[in-house]
Amino acid sequence: MNDNLEALKKVAAIRAAALVESGMHVGLGTGSTAKYAIEELGRKVAAGELTGLTFVATSEASEALARSLGLDVGPLTPRAFDLAIDGADEITPNVDLIKGLGGALVREKLVEVQAKRLIIIADHTKLVTRLGEKAPLPIEVLKFGVDSTVERLQTLGAVGGLRRRADQQDAELYVTDNGNFIFDARFAGADLAALERTLKGTLGVVDTGLFVNMAERAFVAAPDGVREIVRPGH
Ligand code: A5P
Repeated sequence: MNDNLEALKKVAAIRAAALVESGMHVGLGTGSTAKYAIEELGRKVAAGELTGLTFVATSEASEALARSLGLDVGPLTPRAFDLAIDGADEITPNVDLIKGLGGALVREKLVEVQAKRLIIIADHTKLVTRLGEKAPLPIEVLKFGVDSTVERLQTLGAVGGLRRRADQQDAELYVTDNGNFIFDARFAGADLAALERTLKGTLGVVDTGLFVNMAERAFVAAPDGVREIVRPGH
């Protein structure tokens, strides 16, 4: 673990948590940066700085963490809600994102599409000029017929493979909270945002980690301070 990056993630998370007001319904992201936001909200609630908050979580891990801190987490219901805070794997100058290296992309999208404000938190290593510059695009695929789905993705130009669990020597395939696999794909030189509709229309694909036109702003922490990047129009 890089201690400097951890400190930056925490700084960004605290900036985003400052946007949460008493009585709000808040979406909790997933990953090593979102974890700091959940911890900060837990601290504020325990200290009585915030009251009457309710939450919806984007993964079983985030839900368990939030509950362990005494936060009131419920299921996703159809109503729009105030604010969601989450990390990202890539952030463009327009605050378009690749997400899902932490494996929670589908629940993140299901939750965050209902948030009136999606606030992204990250350290500066996540900044890119175009999507796909550094990170592969995670694509959640059904287990059933996975080899056929992978072949369809390869026909579309995807290079990569099914994600394996990093925590195991025998490297079993990684399984999401939804019981599916993830194909981590690179598309040489492709405009990923333009590809999304095709990918989502591919049989066996559940969803992708492309979050285009969703986030309102990002707090990106670097050694010289926190940059606030706002989507044009906000
Ligand atoms: C989880 O599925 C992801 O979308 C995370 O938000 C993303 O991978 C960022 O994770 P870190 O904060 O751990 O880098």
